[in-house]
Amino acid sequence: MLTCPICSGPLDAADNGVVCPVGHRFDRARQGYLNLLPVQHKNSRDPGDNQAMVEARRDFLNAGHYAPVAKRLAELAAERNPAHWLDIGCGEGYYTAQIADALPGADGYALDISREAVKRACKRNPDLSWLIASMARVPLPDASIQFIASVFSPLDWAEAKRLLSPGGGLMRVGPTSEHLMELRQRLYDEVRDYADDKHLALVPKGMSLQHSETLQFKLTLVEGQARANLLAMTPHGWRASAERRAGVIDQAEPFETTVSMRYDYFVLQ
Ligand SMILES: C[S@@+](CC[C@H](N)C(=O)[O-])C[C@H]1O[C@@H](n2cnc3c(N)ncnc32)[C@H](O)[C@@H]1O
Repeated sequence: MLTCPICSGPLDAADNGVVCPVGHRFDRARQGYLNLLPVQHKNSRDPGDNQAMVEARRDFLNAGHYAPVAKRLAELAAERNPAHWLDIGCGEGYYTAQIADALPGADGYALDISREAVKRACKRNPDLSWLIASMARVPLPDASIQFIASVFSPLDWAEAKRLLSPGGGLMRVGPTSEHLMELRQRLYDEVRDYADDKHLALVPKGMSLQHSETLQFKLTLVEGQARANLLAMTPHGWRASAERRAGVIDQAEPFETTVSMRYDYFVLQ
């Protein structure tokens, strides 16, 4: 089902990779993923999250701190029962792998622009198609996907709409304004209040919000390493002062903070 990122022609399997009818060829990496991001579509040498961010996120998520978030996402995916699904901005694949477990038999795709992320993600489930690709030019045909997940990730709404078949939908998971509130209060003198529904204004014509829910729980981080990972996988890792960050990481007592996510499901009519 993959298409050529250069000419949009269908990609067929060739020795150790894929090739389109015009002859654009893409190799499969030793780890199993396909790199479908041609150099002319890269805005920098190593786009997307870097190795340190990816490893911090992998270690934090593998420790189970956000397990309820993944569990609920997998349930919501299973309820939709798609034949073909895609995780856009899959990172190191923690959520992707749990969606895949909830959808046995479905045809799953996952993409990220970060090589460091996809290289690690593909180890989680060899049955999925793992792609280095841009969310602005997804190498899949129009109207070919019934369920798209976008978790904590930027999103190209027009491109997501192009991929959905009628009746299919996009599940966006993102933080509410209360997410990590206690952490932000420790890191900044003034905690910026932000609207967590700004994305609703970006929804393209023809797509509409069908379901919305919030998941909230308290997270207790006992280990300093877990707090360091949480900081390193978010913008707080560079936005907050080194002194404030060290204060959070080094405190002797466990650190408690709120996790608060919203799930919004948009359907294509
Ligand atoms: C905050 S991370 C979330 C990763 C994963 N969904 C998770 O929640 O663990 C955002 C991801 O979006 C990816 N990303 C950023 N811009 C992208 C683009 N234009 N195309 C594809 N992926 C992109 C980054 O490399 C990063 O892995």
